[in-house]
Formats: sequence, structure tokens, C-alpha cells
Amino acid sequence: PTIFVITPTYARLVQKAELTRLSQTLLHVPQLHWILVEDSPHKTPLVTDFLAKSGLSYTHLHTPTPKDRKLQEGDPSWLKPRGAEQRNEGLRWLREDRRAQQGADSQQGVVYFADDDNTYSLQLFEEMRNTQRVSVWPVGLVGGMRYERPVVEGGKVVRFHTGWRPSRPFPLDMAGFAVSLRLVLDNQDACFDGDAPMGFLESSFLQGLVTMDELEPKADNCSKVLVWHTRTEKPKMKREEALQAQGLGSDTAVEV
Ligand code: UGA
Ligand code: MN
Repeated sequence: PTIFVITPTYARLVQKAELTRLSQTLLHVPQLHWILVEDSPHKTPLVTDFLAKSGLSYTHLHTPTPKDRKLQEGDPSWLKPRGAEQRNEGLRWLREDRRAQQGADSQQGVVYFADDDNTYSLQLFEEMRNTQRVSVWPVGLVGGMRYERPVVEGGKVVRFHTGWRPSRPFPLDMAGFAVSLRLVLDNQDACFDGDAPMGFLESSFLQGLVTMDELEPKADNCSKVLVWHTRTEKPKMKREEALQAQGLGSDTAVEV
């Protein structure tokens, strides 16, 4: 089965670096289609050129986060969910595209939501490839913990190891689950709620799709960390700004 990876992305200084790192991971994964969704009112030249040269099978989409849902400069990062509209746009395209394809094969696949800044082991993709409904695994360096994970007893997920609100329907990071394409196609309305309170974005999507009892634990009964919620430091531009003030800033024609 093909793995469809949906990635929201937005313009910032480190964007091309993040996309380079992620795309070069994805290049090692067989049978993968990348759905890259820009948080933007238009497709940017940087991402367009980047994808054309990436060597990946991809679909390039865009949709802006409405202003009232977008984080403003200075807002704490947890105030509003990020990437919700973009993941929904990816789902919309996928459902439409699959409907247009003929044959039972077009309904087979796996959907994974991969943020552009995390770190993914190649093994993770093989773990998720035979997902029947929803598969789950640990995520490292997330939620103020060494890792969060589903707790498995007798081959079943019985609860979640998390430091925060374990009572959430699915206290999982976005990086910690994959969904079968079949389930996505059979539940046309399942999507992310851009108004979900902090920590409930993943639950807003998974709630109607599965129960805890049905989750398929991967990565050795959720005992191995194969994905890390890494976050990239925002580069400081003090020297650049000082030089710019003297008319000596870096050449803006050089893409970073
Ligand atoms: C955590 C989770 O790992 C995310 O999956 C979840 O979307 C997010 O919290 C949330 O609460 O909304 P975090 O590292 O804090 O992630 O979020 P980011 O990595 O900054 O953003 C998640 C994705 O959305 C990234 O792929 C990023 O490029 C994209 N994004 C971010 C946008 O498309 N637009 C934005 O304005 C910000
Ligand atoms: Mn992130």
C-alpha cells in the first residue's frame, strides 16, 4: 500500500532547511506520495521550485489559515492549533483524487500527518504500512516528556503514558498515529477542528474514526521511539539587520 504523507508548511527562515531534511528522509521510503500543503493564499515560488527538484512523487496544495485562527506575533505557540486547515485541505484532495481513480487498488493506502520539523526514522514508515484502521506508536521528546506512548497490555492499547490530561479521548501527538486510506474514504466528514482547544486537535480527527480498543500498536508494542517531536530554534537576525541598516545586507536574490 502507498503511504500518503500530508505535511502542512509555512514560510519562515528555516522552511527550506526543514523541507530539505524531511524530503530527503521521504526519498528513502518506497511507495510514498507527499502531499505538501502551504499555509498561504498562493503557492510560493520557493516551495514550487523545491518540489520540482525533490525527486519525490508529490501534490502541491495551499490554503491560508483564516486570520482569526492564525497565531499572531508574540502569541504563545499553544494558543491555537497549527496546520489544521492545511491537513484538511490534504484530506479533501486525497478523497477527491481517490474517487476519480478506478479500481480497488486506489482505495488501499495509509495516511500519515508529518509536520515539517519532526525527525522520522525510516523504520516508522514500514511499521505503519499495513495499518488496518489506526496504528499508533510512541513519540519522543514531546509533551515535556522523554516520550509519550500508548500503553499496551496483551497486545491492546489500554491507556496512554502522557504527562498532561490523559483523559483526552486520544492523548496522542500528530506524529504518533497513521490512518488507513479506507477509513478516511469511508468517513468523508472526518477532519481536524481548527477551533479545538489545546491538545484536542488529534482527538477531533480520531474521535469518530476509532475506539481505543481498536488501535493497532506498532514499534514493538509501543516500546520503541521511531519519531521525535524536534523543534527548530528560530534563527536570530541581529547581524543581518545591522548590516541591512548600512545597506550591506545579504543578497536577497540568494534563496535560503
Ligand atoms: C504540536 C504538534 O506536534 C502538531 O502536530 C500540532 O499541529 C501542534 O502542536 C498544534 O497544537 O497545533 P508544534 O511543534 O508545536 O506541534 O507545531 P509546529 O511544528 O509549529 O506546527 C505544526 C505544523 O503546522 C508544521 O508542519 C508547520 O509547518 C505547520 N504550520 C505551523 C503551519 O502550516 N502554519 C503555521 O502558522 C504554523
Ligand atoms: Mn513541530
